[in-house]
Amino acid sequence: MSRILGISGSLRAGSFNTLLLKAAVPLLADGDELSIATLHDIPLYDGDLEEANGLPASVVALKQRITESDGVLLASPEYNNGIPGVFKNAIDWLSRPAADIPQVFGNRAFAVIGASPSGFGTIMAQNAWLPILRALGARPWTGGRLLVAKAHQVFDPAGEIKDAAIREQLGKFVTGFAGFAGG
Ligand code: FNR
Repeated sequence: MSRILGISGSLRAGSFNTLLLKAAVPLLADGDELSIATLHDIPLYDGDLEEANGLPASVVALKQRITESDGVLLASPEYNNGIPGVFKNAIDWLSRPAADIPQVFGNRAFAVIGASPSGFGTIMAQNAWLPILRALGARPWTGGRLLVAKAHQVFDPAGEIKDAAIREQLGKFVTGFAGFAGG
């Protein structure tokens, strides 16, 4: 049994990346769980704020959810061929204080998926995550890839994946990752 925490890197109500995480929930094997976190309450990282007040409650809560998980699934949008600032900002907060990095990230299973309306489906953003995961000592899963291109054509108005092949790819990805995270 694996407990996976999915984090969406988009704040948009209609985010394709959040929809991708939601679509993954029923595709997991029995006994595995995927809960979804968003980054709406995470302020901009400010070292003065940290020194004066410590970590914001929203960051403490997300750190806690990560440490209670067996693995973290990042659903990353791509902005200007890289990681959106909102997502990188959250990871920067989560890496504070640095002494907690081994507990929060160290050897924890991580995987990245992403959806975009372009034809490349976040390939550059996904690659950009790799040095960050390495710097934090995480255990990235490289057993699958999921690049959801033309995302505006993938979901129906109810937010369900229309394309059976993409649903199958997503199911294979999350069950493979859950196996890795729990193993
Ligand atoms: C984008 N978008 C985008 N898409 C992409 O595939 N490669 C890119 O480099 C960019 N660059 C980019 C920059 C900025 C500032 C914005 C706002 C958007 C489009 C992006 O993939 C699209 O807005 C997605 O819908 C974002 O993900 P969510 O919010 O749907 O999860």
